[in-house]
Amino acid sequence: MSAPLGVGVVGLGAMGASHVDTLVTQVPGTAVTAVHDADAGRGAEAAARLSAREATDPLDLVADPGVDAVVVCSPDPTHLEIVLACVRAGKPVLCEKPLGVTAEESAQVVEAESAAGRRLVTVGFMRRFDPAYLDLREAVAAGAVGRPVLVHNVHRNAAPHPAATDESVVVNSMVHELDVLPWLLGGAVTGVHVRAPQGEGLRDPQLAVVELDGGRVLASVEVYLAARYGYDIRCEVVGTDGTVALRPPGTLVHAVAGSQGTPVPADFRIRFAEAYRRELLAWAGAAREGGATGATAWDGHVANLVSAAGVQSLHSGQSVAVPAASVPELYR
Ligand SMILES: NC(=O)c1ccc[n+]([C@@H]2O[C@H](COP(=O)([O-])OP(=O)(O)OC[C@H]3O[C@@H](n4cnc5c(N)ncnc54)[C@H](O)[C@@H]3O)[C@@H](O)[C@H]2O)c1
Repeated sequence: MSAPLGVGVVGLGAMGASHVDTLVTQVPGTAVTAVHDADAGRGAEAAARLSAREATDPLDLVADPGVDAVVVCSPDPTHLEIVLACVRAGKPVLCEKPLGVTAEESAQVVEAESAAGRRLVTVGFMRRFDPAYLDLREAVAAGAVGRPVLVHNVHRNAAPHPAATDESVVVNSMVHELDVLPWLLGGAVTGVHVRAPQGEGLRDPQLAVVELDGGRVLASVEVYLAARYGYDIRCEVVGTDGTVALRPPGTLVHAVAGSQGTPVPADFRIRFAEAYRRELLAWAGAAREGGATGATAWDGHVANLVSAAGVQSLHSGQSVAVPAASVPELYR
């Protein structure tokens, strides 16, 4: 039997702890060999529980000879430095979305990976592994609704992350839909207009109209981080012959206290548990061969280009065009 893939995990908060748990319980042939969190208590606790080394910082973790591949789950502004270190070290890396906080940052990753001449970076756009989204994509590709003309997306969280800002509503949250739309339909996002209702404090909710292929398809995206009632992800594709939509998750219908309905997941870890499992399985398989799978650094960069236009639109109140970008050799 070959040795397990040694995985180093940076950031052990909600996403990192979830990925560690999934790796340990559901991804055979992997071992979490090193961890690091800026909160030393969190790092030490995980290291002891997993019999892993607690690295002194993210770069120490990347350099650890016991680490074959890295999962990055620290806050968005930390992603760039760690991913670049992984590319330099020739180690496959699953970087949680977004791939850096600006398109300038993600461009640096694309450049570094292109210079290395091989794909090492996977971006954690896990919806690409979600069974319901995969069914939706297959139905659209099979022509089930004719030619798609509209897409309606809803992305609600119970509460914002404490670090949420007006801009991160787009860059950190809406980026999921900005990646999913071209993946779902083919083609490219060519324009975006983001608005938020007048109010105090965090500009939340936000509503975007996203244009694909010069306006052949239009999509609405609602992101509402403080929706309170739970984590609710919806997507409906409207075509010339009908519509197709994600079914609400869950298998039960509760009839209690005068109302009837399906439970809403509390957060992303519940709604996308299967997507994370499939994502990590695929990633570990590719990493064992020294490569990558799923969303590429280029996909992460393209999503960041759209996010940047979205942030510009939020501030200006105007619709903003997204410049066409030519795909580098490595990603063709
Ligand atoms: N794919 C998804 O569905 C999804 C869902 C949630 C979060 N995420 C992404 O995962 C990342 C983490 O989000 P989260 O919700 O787990 O946040 P979190 O706040 O729960 O956890 C972040 C962790 O990183 C640690 N940290 C802070 N600075 C650090 C540093 N410089 N080096 C190492 N560790 C550091 C914190 O102490 C904390 O434990 C973000 O990039 C976020 O966008 C992805």
